[in-house]
Amino acid sequence: MNYIIAIDGVAGSGKSTVSKLLSKKYNLFFISSGKYYRAITYLYNKNNFHEINEDFINLVNETNIKLDNDSIYLNGEDISNQITDEMISNNISLIANNEIIRNIVNQKIREFSKEKDIIMDGRDIGTVVFPNANLKIYITASSWERTKRRKKELLELNKKVNIFSIWNSIVKRDYKDKHRKIAPLIKSKDAIKISSTKMSIEEVVNEISKHIKR
Ligand code: C5P
Repeated sequence: MNYIIAIDGVAGSGKSTVSKLLSKKYNLFFISSGKYYRAITYLYNKNNFHEINEDFINLVNETNIKLDNDSIYLNGEDISNQITDEMISNNISLIANNEIIRNIVNQKIREFSKEKDIIMDGRDIGTVVFPNANLKIYITASSWERTKRRKKELLELNKKVNIFSIWNSIVKRDYKDKHRKIAPLIKSKDAIKISSTKMSIEEVVNEISKHIKR
């Protein structure tokens, strides 16, 4: 196994931004595991499925899902912008709750560790995907702080903003991520917890860097 950093935490806590910066600083390959769940939710919506059945599992298995830096492709189609839609976030728990789908995603994302030193963000990276990761971080932030960050992101993408619906979706997603039966979001005992509400991105990066150096 190569060097692995697992970054878990709640939606909108800054995991991806921090992981991306650390990946550049330490020359690690960055994988956002949430992008796989988002891409599979996109596939589900696009093909008008109403339940996860054998046909859908076959479709997931037949579909080429490829991550390349910040972009994610479904059979060659770049769906990076589409997967950030609020519609995807609201429907994703159905996909993320399914054990067969989680196994497919885990198999794909574990492959990366065979060839590269990686930093991966998600909900179950330190607990399920890489329980032997070299460094585990668990990032949190208040729901209100995360709502403000999400609002800023959406405005930058020229998307519509409804502050209440953002907050509502964050709180609902936290609940679903933490209370699902399979691979719920929990802090691994050996993970270092960082509460980022009052911290800048740089401060979080510096804090994690101290542990990487150690
Ligand atoms: O990290 P991101 O917000 O893109 O993840 C989207 C959703 O995918 C999460 O709310 C969660 O339901 C699911 N997910 C997961 N396990 C992971 C990563 C993401 O269940 N390792």
